[in-house]
Amino acid sequence: MNPDLRRAQAGDDGANASRSDRDSSSLPEPVGPRPPRSTDTADPEIDLRAELRESQVEAVLDTLDGELIGLRAVKTRIRETAALLLVDRVRRRLELTTQTPTLHMSFTGNPGTGKTTVALRMSEILHRLGYVREGHLVSVTRDDLVGQYIGHTAPKTKEVIKRAMGGVLFIDEAYYLYRPENERDYGQESIEILLQVMENNRDDLVVVLAGYRDRMDRFFQSNPGMRSRIAHHLDFPDYTQAELLAISKLMLAEMSYRFSPEAETTFADYVARRMELPHFANARSIRNALDRARLRQANRLFAAGALTRRDLMTIEPQDILASRVFTESRADSGAAAESSDQSHASHS
Ligand SMILES: Nc1ncnc2c1ncn2[C@@H]1O[C@H](COP(=O)(O)OP(=O)(O)O)[C@@H](O)[C@H]1O
Ligand SMILES: [Mg+2]
Repeated sequence: MNPDLRRAQAGDDGANASRSDRDSSSLPEPVGPRPPRSTDTADPEIDLRAELRESQVEAVLDTLDGELIGLRAVKTRIRETAALLLVDRVRRRLELTTQTPTLHMSFTGNPGTGKTTVALRMSEILHRLGYVREGHLVSVTRDDLVGQYIGHTAPKTKEVIKRAMGGVLFIDEAYYLYRPENERDYGQESIEILLQVMENNRDDLVVVLAGYRDRMDRFFQSNPGMRSRIAHHLDFPDYTQAELLAISKLMLAEMSYRFSPEAETTFADYVARRMELPHFANARSIRNALDRARLRQANRLFAAGALTRRDLMTIEPQDILASRVFTESRADSGAAAESSDQSHASHS
């Protein structure tokens, strides 16, 4: 643990002790579900709410609630994890525990369901609670970890681990590390190094494995060592149409844009159609669709002549209706959606 944190906690201890001494002598017993208050001076009271405030984790949790639409179960799990870590931190201070809890996680769900975004928030929470020194997130895929030739994998994997140490290592589509069809695949070498670090350095590195649910389940079945080191499994469901629409409005507002009332109806229709097409990627497809709508809006404004501030902010139905989702057959617009998702190009 970092010495600054230890000092700060020693300070907290003192403050809590004096607060509880005063409380137990002068205040009436609280009503409600709180456990009976101890008057034993050898067992000073601990105020978890004050702990939470002091850690500033509440602010991160609030940002998570405000910035992310839906994801109720994920948000609940993160609050629970934060509570667990907070209690663990107090218990460690009181020397009730000496082992760092296992914090490695798996985030499963389809593309664009918020896994990377939540991992970033998680790394902030872990940092504020003192479980990682720096709180940065290093996001990698198989190619960053596994080499093409013999002898290349170990240095690559170790380099990534070195960069991530003190923070969170986010391995996207982690199951590609394991390729049973090729018995000489170097992925296995990377997995073994990761397993060792996940065990030996768990007080300073948190690994998050992300990817599709079914592939991750199969990966864990074939890699029980990995499974046993992952303590928290979070599942990210697909968004509903209403959630996607709410996400689109939030994204626009963040960029100082908005839909006209007619455009909002048009975009709801767009979302319903886009959801049915191949290569739909939840909130990511929404972000891409908004990028293209802004491009069309800019072209429209150029052609229009005199403008107001409101014009510059407003997306109109024609900025959305030009999408191939409305103009082409199902198969064609799926392909168009795919290419635009990859290149962020404008399809008008
Ligand atoms: N619930 C949500 N509310 C608002 N924006 C979201 C939400 N989920 C995802 N996004 C946005 O969608 C994009 C893709 O999310 P990301 O976290 O990269 O998904 P994943 O890692 O699961 O593919 C990001 O721009 C992110 O900010
Ligand atoms: Mg991602």
